[in-house]
Amino acid sequence: MFSRSIDPTRRDRTEAILRAIGERVRSPFRALELGSGPGSLVARMLRRFPRCRVVAVDTDPVLLEVGERALRRFRRRTAWILADLREATWPSALPPGRFDVAVSSLTLHWLEADTLRRLYRELGRILRPGGLVIDGDFLPSRRPADRAVGPPPTTGRPEGAARRGGGLPEFQRSWEAWWVTLSSDPTLRAAFRDRQERLPGRIPPTREPGPRAVASLELHEHALLDAGFARTEVLWRAGAFRVLAAVR
Ligand SMILES: C[S@@+](CC[C@H](N)C(=O)[O-])C[C@H]1O[C@@H](n2cnc3c(N)ncnc32)[C@H](O)[C@@H]1O
Repeated sequence: MFSRSIDPTRRDRTEAILRAIGERVRSPFRALELGSGPGSLVARMLRRFPRCRVVAVDTDPVLLEVGERALRRFRRRTAWILADLREATWPSALPPGRFDVAVSSLTLHWLEADTLRRLYRELGRILRPGGLVIDGDFLPSRRPADRAVGPPPTTGRPEGAARRGGGLPEFQRSWEAWWVTLSSDPTLRAAFRDRQERLPGRIPPTREPGPRAVASLELHEHALLDAGFARTEVLWRAGAFRVLAAVR
């Protein structure tokens, strides 16, 4: 997939998330993905853990529709929920019942600190006791060793190999072409109309500005502990990309 060219740590990071689920969550389990996009992590979970069910949440109706269609054969094990994590009411859109694990990949760095604090309190209520949060994302530490790392992926400047190898123009072209192809599909017209209302702008989408400052690893850790999670642990790291886990 084209995202490998801009995000060279993606494969290893995703594998670390899946390994953590395999080692720490007993099957059958119920997972929630925050910011699923078109469902690449959803697909990996469904295939790796044949007895899991996944509820995918995203604010983009087009990406949800693409994911739902691509994974139709798993429809009995999936639900695709349109909701904005910045709105306090988002949990009311979820199907009832607690979750064993909440995962996220490259999404939470879009959220402001206050939203993250509220989100973790909400996850504390949605997860069963002993349940896990597993977040693989750009999580820069305030500690000195991290100061040299680059900007988050959402600022439009890629990390590591992609920056050195000039991966962005290639990524940008594939990404824009992907959106143009989707937007000319008549069966996605309703989803695009819905998207235009929720996320107004041109297609291919321009990059939205992220939060004023990307939340640090320490902010995530403190917010999780303040929300009542028992402990946090960094399970994997490449530069400022990390997989952070927390136990409820
Ligand atoms: C970089 S993509 C990552 C998609 C997927 N998790 C992956 O790793 O391939 C970020 C996703 O987060 C979603 N997103 C961003 N802000 C959101 C919000 N406030 N509520 C719900 N989803 C959000 C975007 O629509 C997008 O699908």
